[in-house]
Amino acid sequence: EGEGEAEIDYVFKVVVVGDSAVGKTQLLARFTRDEFALDSKSTIGVEFQARTLTLHRKRVKAQIWDTAGQERYRAVTSAYYRGALGAMVVYDVTRRATFEHVPRWVEELRAHADGSTVVALIGNKADMPAARREVAADEAARLAEEQGLFFSEASALTGDNVERAFLTLLEEVF
Ligand code: GTP
Repeated sequence: EGEGEAEIDYVFKVVVVGDSAVGKTQLLARFTRDEFALDSKSTIGVEFQARTLTLHRKRVKAQIWDTAGQERYRAVTSAYYRGALGAMVVYDVTRRATFEHVPRWVEELRAHADGSTVVALIGNKADMPAARREVAADEAARLAEEQGLFFSEASALTGDNVERAFLTLLEEVF
């Protein structure tokens, strides 16, 4: 695609965490390749995806790290978080337990990442029918405010808010 490393001004490392199957891998696939897979396999260990974009006339490579939500596949933690300028904590709006675990993920982030890491809370699967919803947006917004996080609901499936959530995070890192 003709975008050599030489043209990149900054590399921003962003890590994505959250319980298994909340949609971390698919949020990345949507943001980096505008793709989505319904039959997404559980991530084993750590994977990377990247997208280069222009922010304030600078070429910024967002290097996004995706790790397994499942404890047994986690190969972390210090190396995973090291140097992360941004982080996303993802939960699934249709599974309350994934929201209740958010403080644990934030704690792990705070323990391993730099104090200056910008953190966003993302409620994924906002496309699901209202009857399936187990977490209200305003409740999540309150938690985000308490914890000092940016907050947005999103859907990797429809793409709603995905671009915006990542761009807001990258803008804030910049
Ligand atoms: P681990 O790798 O196990 O940590 O999971 P993960 O958080 O990376 O989840 P993944 O992206 O693999 O998605 C899990 C399942 O949820 C898959 O079947 C996806 O297709 C589905 N999924 C992901 N995002 C969405 C979404 O926005 N809406 C809906 N309806 N389904 C989604």
